Amino acid sequence: MRELTQSGTTTIVGRSMKTQQVLHNIDKVAAGRWPVLVLGETGTGKDLVARSIHETAGQGPFVPIDCSSLVGPLMESELFGHARGAFTGAVGPKLGLIELANGGTAFFDEIGELPLDMQAKLLRVLQEKEFRPVGSLQQRRSDFRIIAATNRDLAKEVERGAFRRDLYYRLNVVTLRLAPLRERTDDLEPLIDHFLSLYGTGHILTPEVRSALQGYEWPGNVRELENCIQQMVAINTGPMLHICDLPSPIQNCLQARRAQSMAVAVGASGNSKPPARAETPDRFFNQDIPILPLIEMERRAILHALEYTNGDRGVAAHLLGIGRTTLYRKLKEYELAV
Ligand SMILES: Nc1ncnc2c1ncn2[C@@H]1O[C@H](COP(=O)(O)OP(=O)(O)OP(=O)(O)O)[C@@H](O)[C@H]1O
Ligand SMILES: [Mg+2]
Repeated sequence: MRELTQSGTTTIVGRSMKTQQVLHNIDKVAAGRWPVLVLGETGTGKDLVARSIHETAGQGPFVPIDCSSLVGPLMESELFGHARGAFTGAVGPKLGLIELANGGTAFFDEIGELPLDMQAKLLRVLQEKEFRPVGSLQQRRSDFRIIAATNRDLAKEVERGAFRRDLYYRLNVVTLRLAPLRERTDDLEPLIDHFLSLYGTGHILTPEVRSALQGYEWPGNVRELENCIQQMVAINTGPMLHICDLPSPIQNCLQARRAQSMAVAVGASGNSKPPARAETPDRFFNQDIPILPLIEMERRAILHALEYTNGDRGVAAHLLGIGRTTLYRKLKEYELAV
């Protein structure tokens, strides 16, 4: 199983079944010239996949076209180029992005943002491989592979009339769906290690930081994970990175989970029935512990439980798996409390 595939400058990391399938499909589609539609939430790796297909195919230039930035009167000339004197300021002829992609790949990013009139023009280029620069009477040819990406639901856009059905079918020959990171948690470990080796300088994550990263939902997907690691190594000389070094959204999520497990534990402590197993704090307990006499381990475990529960002995006893009276006795024994 591949954890990492590298073609040219793109490296796609992941060992989940979903990522393995994407890697397999990249290899398959790279061999042909079919249009590819890459779908996925923001930060799932659509750009990366598009570049990887192009690099695996190894033909011609890769021309990214950000449809969300193609606005205003110059949009058409950006795409199709213009003749000299086509409009005020057009002092010389200019090649458009479509022509620059000749022989290679045009990557239409955020295709869902392309205005309807441009969609019609793009469809024509895809069908005829011909276009006319702004202000020119001559047809020009460009033969390129199109890869389009969007985080919108294009089928819905078609239904509501914001996206041309014919263009949608034209683009939707091969579809690659990139799953959100929360649905492929097996990718987390290799991705974390990949970004640590890219950005870190010998930084190491404590086990409780890894556990916190595993438990987070990653609404911004791989980009958010990459930013998180970058941020942590940028402000910490390390080598150890602790919970307090995590960006605040992840710390907040951790706190919410702690509060939840506390609530379960509090509920359970007033109940004779054994509680459903809560998320116990040992997942967050510092596991870089030296080997110590058991008696000292016990003392530390009690201290940690009390700290975690803000001194609530009932909950602390529950979390330690001992009765309240045993806890009181041990507190006395260790001279930990009055
Ligand atoms: N599987 C992966 N392995 C390594 N890096 C990845 C992977 N997936 C995404 N990345 C990295 O995460 C960042 C975001 O990826 P990318 O820009 O491709 O996402 P996107 O889906 O195009 O996002 P958006 O919808 O916001 O444009 C990039 O820096 C990319 O290199
Ligand atoms: Mg993108």
